[in-house]
Amino acid sequence: MFDNKTILITGGTGSFGKKYTKTILERYSPKRLIIYSRDELKQYEMQQEFNAPCMRYFIGDVRDPERMTQAMNGVDFVIHAAALKQVPAAEYNPMECIKTNVHGAENVIRAAIANNVEKVIALSTDKAAAPINLYGATKLASDKLFVAANNMVGKGKTRFAVVRYGNVVGSRGSVVPFFKKLIADGTDHIPVTHDEMTRFWITLQQGVDFVLKNFARMFGGEIFIPKIPSVRITDLASAYAPDLPIKIIGIRPGEKLHEIMCPADDSHLTLEFDDHYVICPSIKFHNQEHNYSRNLIDEIGKPVAQGYEYHSGTNPHFLTEEEILDFDRLAAE
Ligand SMILES: NC(=O)c1ccc[n+]([C@@H]2O[C@H](COP(=O)([O-])OP(=O)(O)OC[C@H]3O[C@@H](n4cnc5c(N)ncnc54)[C@H](OP(=O)(O)O)[C@@H]3O)[C@@H](O)[C@H]2O)c1
Repeated sequence: MFDNKTILITGGTGSFGKKYTKTILERYSPKRLIIYSRDELKQYEMQQEFNAPCMRYFIGDVRDPERMTQAMNGVDFVIHAAALKQVPAAEYNPMECIKTNVHGAENVIRAAIANNVEKVIALSTDKAAAPINLYGATKLASDKLFVAANNMVGKGKTRFAVVRYGNVVGSRGSVVPFFKKLIADGTDHIPVTHDEMTRFWITLQQGVDFVLKNFARMFGGEIFIPKIPSVRITDLASAYAPDLPIKIIGIRPGEKLHEIMCPADDSHLTLEFDDHYVICPSIKFHNQEHNYSRNLIDEIGKPVAQGYEYHSGTNPHFLTEEEILDFDRLAAE
């Protein structure tokens, strides 16, 4: 699907972008693979690792519509990964978060339509489902923009979908590197916000593979959600530091006890497939009728029960401490 195609990834120097680049270069022969982001140092460092002839490094901000439009010239597929994603930073700098995550999404959409890009997938997060913090709220707004964008294409061929998933093991600024640093620095305890807290858990490679698969599955308008395990944060602490006591420090501003990927209020729109869910659009698209229960690779989905919620606290699959360490090894590959 990606051979001889041009792919652009916004936020290509981030954790997702680098794993995505590695995977694409190992499995396909793209015509061009464009990394679009702001910081030249991150791009310089990435170029030391990924310098195949198809690679292009574009400095640009998703807030800049002209640059976005120019960058998408001749592009077939776009992955929109650029975001401000730290919850406390978003609470403290709300306008900046809105400019990048919401206005940036709008610019990606307009640039993709102007260049007749074939398919666009935007990355979202469980924090966008029933959001309580600004980061989640901006990602929900972004999800809504990408779903509705399918109605802006007129006679154009561009189609937009969203991929929503949970915590990526070991991603920058997340809990595992935080615990590991504390342990390396010789801490005498592991701080845990709440003893009941749970999170969805996914490796970067699983996230990348899920995104790649959804380019083949998508009609446009879907929010794709992988079925993934949950972890209890106390199990994480004991898996990484079995000999250290846990100290409960209290839930932080903007943080939930559990995360949700498919809210109960969307259950009438939610389909369950073997290894994922799809939240179908709540709006109709002009001149586009899709039967979302059979996707483009002929997988069949069934409606979930009324009120069903895919929730990290009630997920039937929780990782044991041993499995948490297996995930850690997988994440390091
Ligand atoms: N990590 C997780 O646990 C997780 C979970 C669920 C969903 N997600 C979503 O997955 C996506 C990728 O996350 P990640 O972990 O790869 O993030 P990351 O490592 O923080 O990388 C973010 C990327 O976005 C770029 N960026 C930030 N602001 C930009 C702007 N205004 N214009 C252009 N580029 C910009 C950054 O580069 P520059 O600073 O150089 O511009 C960097 O390349 C995000 O949309 C995030 O919401 C992440």
